[in-house]
Amino acid sequence: MTRTARAYTNIALIKYWGKKNKQLKLPFTNSLSLTLDRFYTDTKATIINNDEDIVYLNGQLLNTTQNKRILKYLDTVRQFYSFNDHFQIDSINHVPTSAGFASSASGFAALAASINETKKLNLNRRQLSILARNGSGSASRSIYGGFVEWIAGADNESSFAVPIDENPEIDLTLLSVVINKHSKKISSTVGMENSVKSSPFYENWVTLVTSEIKEIKQAIAQKDVQKIGEISEHNAMCMHALTLSANPSFTYFEPETLQIIQIIKELRQKGIFAYATIDAGPNVKIICTKESLPKVQTYIEQQLSNVTTVIANIGSGIQYI
Ligand code: DP6
Repeated sequence: MTRTARAYTNIALIKYWGKKNKQLKLPFTNSLSLTLDRFYTDTKATIINNDEDIVYLNGQLLNTTQNKRILKYLDTVRQFYSFNDHFQIDSINHVPTSAGFASSASGFAALAASINETKKLNLNRRQLSILARNGSGSASRSIYGGFVEWIAGADNESSFAVPIDENPEIDLTLLSVVINKHSKKISSTVGMENSVKSSPFYENWVTLVTSEIKEIKQAIAQKDVQKIGEISEHNAMCMHALTLSANPSFTYFEPETLQIIQIIKELRQKGIFAYATIDAGPNVKIICTKESLPKVQTYIEQQLSNVTTVIANIGSGIQYI
């Protein structure tokens, strides 16, 4: 029986923002993330006697516009492993858009693992990470649980994620604050391309990430949660500076995003542990400790009426079920 592959989403503490090779999705820098336990994608691939792939997402057949990126990816996979089979892909996304997390990381990690399973490719986790990366860069990290580093590498074979600590005994919890707004979305793919092309600070970003990766790995080894929080928040703000300094400039922030950043600073002044990280969207993920989490959640919900909050803990790597 063919098993279903399950992959969890991850949040980057040191962000991936820019590719040196678009086709292979080779990043300019390493990045480092935490896999989360709440949100995941379940995917099953079945070989079909057809000359086209078909894709169902949450039980709905995707049309040619919706499945374009997936079909292109399946062509890449066929080319890599020299086979001609086509698939029916059944994917259930347990990453509600309302939770404020991107689904491409768990989506492409689960898709890569489902093809590995169905085609009996026997890929090890490094090879699986390479395959997932070809779908979406951040998916390379969702192969592993806990803290994960994606090594930038120089070609297809040398760009993959590695586990730093898959079962960290560390007091960190994430509170996602979802701003209920439908802003016009610039995808991360397009956003990072614009930053690389036109931000005068891009070279500084590359230098900064190199040193922040070293620092955060040290903080993780020492279980220094405050250091982890400080570095993560600084890294996220610098990533967003690359959007504001692009030409033309753009931002993922909404007024509420800035309000939440301000509230987090106020909380810290009151001695409550809270640090912000923000991806390619307006929602803020707050790094908390067990102790600070309820206080942060209550305070945020009191101060802002039009937001919802979702709690996520540290999650595991790819599973077959
Ligand atoms: C801000 O992995 O979605 O979340 O490789 O073009 O698919 P593509 O981009 P994607 O970018 C993620 C950007 C980020 C930071 C991160 O996850 O490291």
